[in-house]
Amino acid sequence: ESASKGGYPHFMLKEIHEQPRALVDTLYGLSSDPTLREASKIMAEARRVFITAAGTSYHASLHFAVALSKIAGVLATPFVASEYEAYLPVVREGDVLIAVSQSGETMDTLKAARAFKERGAKLIAVSNVVDSAIPRESDIALYTRAGPEIGVAATKTFTTQTLLLSFLVLDYALLRGAILKSEYDEYARELSRASDLAAKSIAWSEGLAKKVSEMLRLKQSMYYLSRGVGLPTAMEGALKIKELAYIHAESYPAGESKHGPIALVEEGFPVVFVVPRDVYYEKVLLGNIQEMKARGAWIIGVAPEDTSLGEQFDLFFRVPSSHWLTTPITHTPPMQLLAYYTSTLKGYDPDKPRNLAKTVTVE
Ligand code: G6P
Repeated sequence: ESASKGGYPHFMLKEIHEQPRALVDTLYGLSSDPTLREASKIMAEARRVFITAAGTSYHASLHFAVALSKIAGVLATPFVASEYEAYLPVVREGDVLIAVSQSGETMDTLKAARAFKERGAKLIAVSNVVDSAIPRESDIALYTRAGPEIGVAATKTFTTQTLLLSFLVLDYALLRGAILKSEYDEYARELSRASDLAAKSIAWSEGLAKKVSEMLRLKQSMYYLSRGVGLPTAMEGALKIKELAYIHAESYPAGESKHGPIALVEEGFPVVFVVPRDVYYEKVLLGNIQEMKARGAWIIGVAPEDTSLGEQFDLFFRVPSSHWLTTPITHTPPMQLLAYYTSTLKGYDPDKPRNLAKTVTVE
């Protein structure tokens, strides 16, 4: 077993470090695969677009929905797979459901996909496992090329899913005439830096993640906040620390603090702010950071190296400055590492967190 860990103490750490390669492979796979265009056509012919998943894959789905709205000007409806029943009554022929599942076998997602199909919706699968159940039952399947993921908590499958789904958005937007070819090329150029961005993000944050974990291991509760394009990534950060370090973590849009959650904040309460590279978000998040600081919160920033908010953070995870579309790729690795090191420091096995399974094939 230790041989397959490639010299790393855990699969999770190995898989975090495999992200640059997984992103290159996924990018390469997409560039030579005509199914991306076919999937865009199915979407372009559809009346409405739904997207569903569970766990980490759901956060990738949220990224898709945000990007589709911003780039293509089209609203997609994302939902947690186990909640499919609430959406079913409105589904009919002409709709499309994108089912995202790294394993392709998650029962909640499979059931949602089957139910939508029965009502006449077309199905697009996004998976990491060729010919798994969900791709088999779909009209078309798109694959990430992350390679096998052994650690229970998803890492490289998340960043590759967001890369693939971003390309689906771009291809669709181009097909619908929502963007020009020159705009497409510009976005694609940003996305093609994914591997390099992830490599830098990992290298820049690993030392700090180790240090911060020593303080974090004593905490019982924390928040992961962001807005808009940063929110799916913040949600993924909170999920990681819950799954692996067993610290209660909540993620919600930063603007909601004043409507309730700020009541919990006291001296030393950790709040991670995920700051996308965008002047608008920097401006609105500044206010949210300050309201937390005023209550004594311990502010951990995950932000581009050239952010204007650097001085606001008690601890600053610098990530490479890049387009907002790559936020999950640049900002997730520090939070994966933080969860990993906090987990191991507390004496847990990050590859096999308690009560969790890699693939949940029951409802
Ligand atoms: C389980 C795993 C999660 C994963 C979720 C969805 O709950 O513990 O890490 O995100 O299933 O898995 P899928 O294979 O459908 O992406």
